[in-house]
Amino acid sequence: MSETLYTKVDEHGVMTVVFDHAGKSVNTFSSEVLDDLGEVIDLLEQGSRDIAGVIFTSAKPDVFISGADLFQMRQMDHQHVQQFLEQGQGLFDRIARLAIPTVAAINGHCLGGGLELALACNRRVAADNGEINIGLPETKLGIIPAWGGTTRLTAMLGPARTLSLLLTGRTMPPRRALRARVIDEVVRPEALLAAARRQIGLGKPGPVTTKKVRPSRLDRLIMAVPPLCNLVCSIARRRAHEKTFGNYPAADMVIDAVRTACRGDHDASLLCERESVMRLFETGTCQNLMRLFFLRHGAKQAVRKKFKGTPQPVTHAAVIGGGTMGSGIVHALINADIHVRLVDIDVNAISQALCRIKKLLDDDVKSKRRSPLQAEQAMRRVSPVTLGVLESQPGGLKLADVVIEAVAEKMDVKRQVFELLDRTTRPDAVLASNTSSMSVTEMSEAINDPGRLVGMHFFNPVSKMPLVEVVRTPASDDQALATAAQLSLRMGKTPILVNDAPGFLVNRVLIPYLAEALAMCSEGESIVRIDLAMKRWGMPMGPFELLDQIGLDVAIYILHSLEGVLGKHVSVPDWIDQLGDRGWLGRKSGRGFYEYKGRKAAKGRKLPNGKLAELIRSGNAFKPAGKLDDAAIVDRLVLPMVNEAARLLDEGVTDSTDTIDLGTVFGLGLAPFRGGLIQYAQDEGLSQLVERMHVLSLRYGLRFAPVEALSHAAKAGLDMQQIAGGNGHKTEKRKSTKRQRQVSGSFGKVTTGIDRGRWLRNGQAVKTRRRTTGKS
Ligand code: NAI
Repeated sequence: MSETLYTKVDEHGVMTVVFDHAGKSVNTFSSEVLDDLGEVIDLLEQGSRDIAGVIFTSAKPDVFISGADLFQMRQMDHQHVQQFLEQGQGLFDRIARLAIPTVAAINGHCLGGGLELALACNRRVAADNGEINIGLPETKLGIIPAWGGTTRLTAMLGPARTLSLLLTGRTMPPRRALRARVIDEVVRPEALLAAARRQIGLGKPGPVTTKKVRPSRLDRLIMAVPPLCNLVCSIARRRAHEKTFGNYPAADMVIDAVRTACRGDHDASLLCERESVMRLFETGTCQNLMRLFFLRHGAKQAVRKKFKGTPQPVTHAAVIGGGTMGSGIVHALINADIHVRLVDIDVNAISQALCRIKKLLDDDVKSKRRSPLQAEQAMRRVSPVTLGVLESQPGGLKLADVVIEAVAEKMDVKRQVFELLDRTTRPDAVLASNTSSMSVTEMSEAINDPGRLVGMHFFNPVSKMPLVEVVRTPASDDQALATAAQLSLRMGKTPILVNDAPGFLVNRVLIPYLAEALAMCSEGESIVRIDLAMKRWGMPMGPFELLDQIGLDVAIYILHSLEGVLGKHVSVPDWIDQLGDRGWLGRKSGRGFYEYKGRKAAKGRKLPNGKLAELIRSGNAFKPAGKLDDAAIVDRLVLPMVNEAARLLDEGVTDSTDTIDLGTVFGLGLAPFRGGLIQYAQDEGLSQLVERMHVLSLRYGLRFAPVEALSHAAKAGLDMQQIAGGNGHKTEKRKSTKRQRQVSGSFGKVTTGIDRGRWLRNGQAVKTRRRTTGKS
């Protein structure tokens, strides 16, 4: 028995190898675990006649094996990584060569190296639990599966199916993995080991090749005829380049490795896997992607370990407002086994919300994340009620441990809601607002105990976006923050802590980007070119595609709200209001910057809105200018974001550049291979960026002028982290003029230095601006 695994042999001679790394919540493959597994394989090779078969499983409730130990890998030098890869490949080859049947009994997440072990076994059985993820997500970390995973999957499925799994790094619930033929059987969790034993009975001892899952006849033909294989690989390469613009070298490498695997020379294929990883490991892309993995992991750990306040247990919640966001939030809550009271002002809105929630659950069933029964049970956890009924029977929210407000984006409406919640909820219930642009502090003035109010800013669509900004007001108490962060984790999201300030972190960075894209549009620059330039740079969609996706009513409202607050460095052209007035609301109305209706759009072609040019020309902001190249477009759009990020640090909205990187990657989808906005800025060099900002400010206006703290950091050779927490040039001055609170807690030390007075004053000004619609 070792620290990492133990074995037991039953009366039929079946050995069960149970991975159970002592003191760790998950099983991963470190070199120690591989050593321990190696000793078990030594024994099996020596005395395998006494053993009828082997089952590999795990004692951790949610995890089979979640891959290689990346924490250990990042400490390794080049030679060590090489040895680590050879060790894993050699070990899994030995498992594949065992003369007795081997079965992986997958009881929890089975990722990367975990699945590579399972692929080396003769059979794979998984517990029927839609929350389990099975897959080889290595390309998401900038590498490729290199413990034989690429080689074995290709040999099982052929090149086309393997590439579709590896290029996306997609993970699947067991029923999907079964359909993809990655595993052989899905059984009720309690029947897992019995099923694995049955599989051992099925497999006759003998060479592994006789028991292999084989590709289809067509795939075998493709593998046997090199030109066909090359054709499949080149189609995959073209499609990958269309999506990633060549920004992810792992995509090219995995295609090469699959092509090598198709040739059937096992050793050559393993060598290709190893060499690819050795080369990829050195790339900036891989390092950035790995860093993001560690940051995300760290954000989760921070909630679990560093929180000062103890999170309150949550069994019941309430969501006020069943619109786009409210229904998404309810769906995430019921999927986390939480009972939810859904409150809306309007009966029709409630029925629409229930339809939306049902649709989201149906999607879960389709993707095999839930069974129809589980979806039905989840739906039963929602109990809807109208605001009117709630007001007349105020006991309806007494069970709620947390209440999340997601009503229309109007301060008076939100304050009324919180006044009501103050009267109708338990005094220990945590209250949260999902506002995207308003002051949570101002909302907290509507309740008796402002300590229990925090912001929980989810992103649209809630089911897909992995981030939640947990917003701290100067009064929010640690327990309320800890509860909100813990609840976000339960809902499958990564929480980041930010202080209450206009736009918080993500929208604050986004607004100058969108405003500058609109300014370029006013100069007659093509929206298609701008979108394409940003996609080449690494954004998942261009700014105009994003505006259409958000919905122009919502986007215009947020742009104007924050334009009023952020001052002269953000200016939104007047013609944008006319888009809303004409009902061009983007994707949801069928027309925005692009057309979404009609034959061509139905075929997936991107057609710009033909009437847009005329509308822009009629606007006061129209100033035709020369055509810009990609680099100029990128600078005009990305540098304002960097400048805004420097302001966030300088003002103490966050004290961590890592938080900005997490927020920009997981909230905005900003080029993950660049490692986030700050990583990009650091990689470019601050003094370089500041120089480019000066040039842009001479040409296009003061909105590009670098903030003082950034200029100072560039001059003094500081990095952006040093702008935060009082090291920036301006911070010395600000200390005497702004109320600052040093709060040490949960996510580490955060300085609250927001000039609330200015925001509220400007908040008034915002209210006098014309709003295109009342939405959001
Ligand atoms: P929505 O307009 O789709 O839904 C608002 C819902 O609130 C409607 O069903 C309405 O009937 C209900 N409502 C209005 N007043 C109410 C009251 N007094 N009591 C109970 N229900 C009431 O709005 P959406 O898009 O869901 O936004 C809601 C909140 O989420 C806003 O604060 C918005 O800023 C924020 N948000 C929106 C995002 C988006 O992309 N739509 C993204 C992130 C946050």
